[in-house]
Amino acid sequence: MIPPGKTLGILGGGQLGRMLAQAAQTLGYRVHVFEPAGPCPAGAVANHEVNANYEDTAALTAFARECAVVTYEFENIPSGPLAVVAPLVPLHPRAEVLHITQNRQREKAWLRAHGIPHARYAEALDGDIAPAVAEVGLPCVVKTADFGYDGKGQMKLADAADVERAAAIFRGRRCVVESWVEFACEVSVIVARSAGGEARAFPVAENIHTHHILDFSIVPARVDAAVARTAGQLALAIADQLGVVGLIAVEMFATTAGEVLVNELAPRPHNSGHWSIDGCETSQFEQHVRAVCGLPLGGVAVREPTVMVNILGDAWFAGDVRREPNWGVILAEPRARLHLYGKAEPRPGRKMGHFTVRAATVEAALARARELKAKL
Ligand SMILES: Nc1ncnc2c1ncn2[C@@H]1O[C@H](COP(=O)(O)OP(=O)(O)O)[C@@H](O)[C@H]1O
Ligand SMILES: [Mg+2]
Repeated sequence: MIPPGKTLGILGGGQLGRMLAQAAQTLGYRVHVFEPAGPCPAGAVANHEVNANYEDTAALTAFARECAVVTYEFENIPSGPLAVVAPLVPLHPRAEVLHITQNRQREKAWLRAHGIPHARYAEALDGDIAPAVAEVGLPCVVKTADFGYDGKGQMKLADAADVERAAAIFRGRRCVVESWVEFACEVSVIVARSAGGEARAFPVAENIHTHHILDFSIVPARVDAAVARTAGQLALAIADQLGVVGLIAVEMFATTAGEVLVNELAPRPHNSGHWSIDGCETSQFEQHVRAVCGLPLGGVAVREPTVMVNILGDAWFAGDVRREPNWGVILAEPRARLHLYGKAEPRPGRKMGHFTVRAATVEAALARARELKAKL
C-alpha cells in the first residue's frame, strides 16, 4: 500500500489529471504532473508541474524518482520512452495496457482474440481502404489507428463516392474499417481493479454524443436489466483479462437487436464517469487513486439519478460574438453543480467544463439539464 502523504505522479495535464489530482489531494497525497505544454489544468492544482516531452527519458526518469507511483490520464504517450518508468516505480495501469489501447488496430485485435463482442471490422494496413471496405460492407466507418479522439480521424462511408473520397484522405495511414452499428443507445462502464484482483464496476452510464463528442451522460442508463448486466460483465472481464490496475473505461453500443458490442477502451478516468463526483458513493477519480495506491476500493452505488452535461468552448460563442456563458443559470439551481477546468482559451469542440443535475428520476434530471444547457 502506498499511504497518504506519498506522491502520485500523473502523466498528462488535462482536466482528467486535474480532477484526479484533486481527489488524490483530498486523500492526503501529494501530486506531481508531467505535461509537455504548460501551464496546464492539472498543473494548476498540483504540488508540482514538470513540462517536458514524453520522449524526454531523462525528464521522465527524474519525474518517476520523485513519485511513489505513476499513472496517466492520456493515452497517446509513446510506450518506448515510457519504459524508463516501470523499473523505478510502479506504473499503473501497466505499459502493455496502454500499448494495446492507444492503437485501434491492436485494441480491436485484442477484443477479437479474447472473444469480446465488437462490430465487424477489417484492417487497412497500407492506407488502402478499398479491400477492407469490401470485406466489411457499407455503411461503415473508417478510423485511423492512432491519435483519434472525439470523432477526429473518422469518416462514415455510405456509398461508392464516399469510398473514393476516403481512399484519398486516408491514403498511407493505418486504419480500421468498421461496420456501421445501428445502436439503440451508447453505454459505458468504468471498472476499477486493484493489484490483488479486487474489481468494482461503476453503474452503467448512457451516453449521448453530438458531432461525435460526448454531450450527455445519464445514470442510471435507461436500458434493460439484461443489457446493463451484460455491459457490466463485459467490462469486468476486460479489466481482468488485461490485468488493469486502476481504471478502465469501456464504451459500448447497445444495438437495436439487443446485443452489446464493445466500441473502445480507455485505461484512465473517462468523460462518461464525471457524473460520479456528484452522483456516486465514490468518484471515478478517487477510485483510481484507491486502486493505484493499493487502498480498499470505495462503494459504487448511485446516490441519486444524475445527468452530466459537457460544456464545450462553443458555449462562449453566440454567432460571431464571444461572451462568457451565463454561469448563474447553473449556480442558481440547487440540484446542479458546476465544474470548470480552468482553461483560458475557449475553442469550438474544446472541453472547458461540465455540470451535473440530480433529481428523483433520470427523466427529471435530463429535462432540467437540457433546460439549463439551453440557457447557458
Ligand atoms: N461503428 C460505428 N457505428 C455507429 N456509430 C459509431 C461507430 N463508430 C463510432 N461511432 C460514433 O462515433 C463516436 C466516436 O467514435 P469512437 O470510436 O468512440 O472514437 P473516439 O471517441 O475516439 O472519437 C461514437 O461514440 C459513436 O457515436
Ligand atoms: Mg469514443
